[in-house]
Amino acid sequence: METLAEEVASRRTFAIISHPDAGKTTLTEKLLLLGGAIQLAGQVKGRRLRHHTHSDWMRLERERGISITTSVMQFPYGGCLLNLLDTPGHEDFSEDTYRTLSAVDSALMVIDAAKGVEERTLKLMEVARRRNTPVMTFINKMDREGLPPLALLDEIEKKLGLLTVPFTWPIGQGRDLLGVYHLREDQISIYRAPDHEHAGVEDRIEGLTSDPGQVFLGPSATRLVEECELVRGTLPAWNPEDYEEGLATPVFFGSALGGFGVRELLDAFCTFAPSPRPQWSTTRTVRPEEASLSGFVFKIQANLDPQHHDRMAFVRLCSGRYQPGMRWFQVRTGRSFKVADARTFFANARSQTNAAVAGDILGLPNHGTIQIGDVFTEGERLSFAGVPNFAPEWFRRVILDDPLRSKTLARGLQELAEEGAAQFFRPLIGQEWIVGAIGPLQFEVVAARLADEYAVRCRFEPLPIATARWVETEPDLLAELQVRLAAYLAHDHLGDLVYLAPSRVHLELTEERHPEVRFHPTRERVLA
Ligand code: G4P
Repeated sequence: METLAEEVASRRTFAIISHPDAGKTTLTEKLLLLGGAIQLAGQVKGRRLRHHTHSDWMRLERERGISITTSVMQFPYGGCLLNLLDTPGHEDFSEDTYRTLSAVDSALMVIDAAKGVEERTLKLMEVARRRNTPVMTFINKMDREGLPPLALLDEIEKKLGLLTVPFTWPIGQGRDLLGVYHLREDQISIYRAPDHEHAGVEDRIEGLTSDPGQVFLGPSATRLVEECELVRGTLPAWNPEDYEEGLATPVFFGSALGGFGVRELLDAFCTFAPSPRPQWSTTRTVRPEEASLSGFVFKIQANLDPQHHDRMAFVRLCSGRYQPGMRWFQVRTGRSFKVADARTFFANARSQTNAAVAGDILGLPNHGTIQIGDVFTEGERLSFAGVPNFAPEWFRRVILDDPLRSKTLARGLQELAEEGAAQFFRPLIGQEWIVGAIGPLQFEVVAARLADEYAVRCRFEPLPIATARWVETEPDLLAELQVRLAAYLAHDHLGDLVYLAPSRVHLELTEERHPEVRFHPTRERVLA
């Protein structure tokens, strides 16, 4: 029987950071294959996998054939138990994506070799950096023509401010891709296109300059060896601490489609990625191997069954061990209750497990009694700092089809906001309802859910608002501020004051004019 500390040490809880189409879904599939969680003969297209690996909880999700929600998959590899928290794969994304990053200990960044560092990756990395999340990089699609490897590393360093430490190096690229060379293990892994008769068979050659290596590299051997030697000679020293602190990123090259270069990545990931890290609370540091259980809710998934209004709360365990039937204390409400039916998320459903320790994710079915940010313990009043609200970038006014339904609309918006599905604001002046979102698809989700769950039909109209800032000032200055900026102020769903900026320039001018006020782009509540 493993001790709690040993079990915790085997956990790797992570998310994949990428821009749409970089290959996240394809890589996920290969990770699951390597972990033995799925067995698929041959090539499975990304979209097909989407249907297999993602829940289709939401009607909208099914209709659009996309994954809007974050799902969780647990699978074993090399003595570790990996918890992969998936982030939406569509053009659009919401706060769920960001919040997922508050529940992981590290991340894999997937970059398309032809495109380099793209906009979504930049945004997600901003969040990762805020938490010093360790990041490993997979440069994908090396089987296609792309930017030269050195240029890609340069871009990661310049755009993301991360020191790059290549672990593998491509031998050729695009149509000339022969393999990857493991710079630390002096081993060549041979590339075979997905339609090659030996595709999927792993072939390795020990030693770049060995006889088999030279034969394999063929006429370009001298040039390729020189290139690899040069890279190896100029490698920055590998310092695991730099990685753990989010300063350096180990880099791997490959092709997710061909399942190529992925094993190298996963091996290093299991070796170096951190096991569950301590969590800071307002009173003390909570260590993962503490016997007493604690965890926080980073996501709520509603609509599991539209008839029953039930919801699944996703809890990231921070310490201790879950056992069915134990009593949990909900710090916000002071209530205790028996937890008998928490779900775990083993990717291979047939091996469903009930065991969960710090680092694992549990799903708690509930009827709206659990909120994002809720903290659970076995009795201690812990408060974790952590699950942030981000300033929305899209704003719409809600127009009700039936004005008599405004009370139900208010309840629906309040509940959707508590769940983190969207944010809403009530301006100090006027009777408007304003919904704020991180991406425009969220409005469709809100409209569909208001119709389905609250029988409220509404439309959205654009508003001239560029961004929002949470306003913080001395209590005695507040009244005056509320008068001077009345036209731009609103309350959010928790009653906090928010400044809705008509433009970025307006925001800058207002910030200059009011040095006594702090304008926060996120609201990082202390939880519970
Ligand atoms: P995402 O989840 O990050 O959005 O990306 P996804 O894995 O769906 O991959 C996006 C497209 O890129 C897919 O093609 C996928 O097959 C392709 N792709 C992924 N990895 C590689 C790779 O290593 N090499 C090459 N050449 N292509 C790769 P698609 O045609 O858009 O979709 P599908 O019809 O294959 O599903």
